[in-house]
Amino acid sequence: MEKVPPYVFAHVSKLIAEKKAQGVDVINLGIGSPDLPTPAHIVEVLKQAADDPTNHGYPSYVGMPSLREAVAAWYKRRFEVDLDPETEVVPLIGSKEGIAHLALAMVGPGDIALIPDPGYPTYHMGTVLADAESYPMPLLAENEFLPDLDAIPANVLERARVMWLNYPNNPTGAVAPISFFEKVVDFASRHNIIIAHDNPYADVTFDGYRAPSLLQVPGAKEVAVELNSLSKTYNMAGWRVGMAVGNPEVIAGLVRVKSNVDTGIFNPIQIAASAALQGDQRWIKERNAIYQRRRDVILDGLAAAGIKAHKPKAALYVWAETPEGWKSNDFAMHVLDHAGVWLTPGTAYGEAGEGYVRLSLCAPEERLREAMERLQAIDF
Ligand SMILES: Cc1ncc(COP(=O)(O)O)c(C=O)c1O
Repeated sequence: MEKVPPYVFAHVSKLIAEKKAQGVDVINLGIGSPDLPTPAHIVEVLKQAADDPTNHGYPSYVGMPSLREAVAAWYKRRFEVDLDPETEVVPLIGSKEGIAHLALAMVGPGDIALIPDPGYPTYHMGTVLADAESYPMPLLAENEFLPDLDAIPANVLERARVMWLNYPNNPTGAVAPISFFEKVVDFASRHNIIIAHDNPYADVTFDGYRAPSLLQVPGAKEVAVELNSLSKTYNMAGWRVGMAVGNPEVIAGLVRVKSNVDTGIFNPIQIAASAALQGDQRWIKERNAIYQRRRDVILDGLAAAGIKAHKPKAALYVWAETPEGWKSNDFAMHVLDHAGVWLTPGTAYGEAGEGYVRLSLCAPEERLREAMERLQAIDF
């Protein structure tokens, strides 16, 4: 247990609850949980499926064939990627579950996982749970928040089994051009490394940007899997449903671990997930326009407060620089104490997050405006 600390954000809820108990109207810009509802047509399918008693038993370990087919068809439509629904697709209880179990399937003692720093915490914690080591790849502003593959030492590469990547990126909001993915696939083939690309923000994009899948690169399936999720794309974070797709051996390894640990996803959720993937997608554009307006409120508000930020083309976050002389954690605590606004310290995502805070777009525009006004009113 010493090696496994509580989930990095577990203490934050307590901190915010304490402030609220003191009467502070806290504006929480820490969480990336979509606040907009799941579209009614998806909820309706869930309700009907939940009424059917044949859906009440244990689900299949490998997911319903109809969902695996819906995922394959969605990848074809959305990315022009061909997948075999039987061997190259497995539904997940959210991408987070897939990350942790994939780590168990791919690395063990003596192995190294290359992880983005800053990065979603589960890449590192999954590695720790598998008794392997993480090697952080710094994502720096001067490299457009892409890792410098040439900077990974040879002795690390010898033991590296997997490289975790995530574009559109949490927490930086950076996106990766397909040319970077091509470089990554070539690198992975040369060094015998599996790429695990986590792509849950592919359809939360702004300014007309369209995010690719890493599997679009010819030959990518030889060396890569991609994790995806309905949490952000379809405002379904609480439903816990996602998918891993790509290299069949890696998918088989993941299924092996999963089948020994979990027992799949409630069938009505799988049926509703299929409906989400196959149904009307036009509302996503309107939803993204809402996030884009929120992004702009934050960017304008931060600029007025004298805080520099990177303008994201995708994902649910603004990655902002702490003011001169401020450490991430101290600044986040200062803003909470004086403005009643919670921003996530960049260091929650790794050492290279020092000097940054992350602001989530998952709050209504009025609350974001108020948060920015409060920020502009305090000294730092
Ligand atoms: C990069 C990244 N991967 C995975 C997840 C988890 O997604 P899910 O809800 O599918 O477990 C998140 C959630 O914030 C995320 O930011």
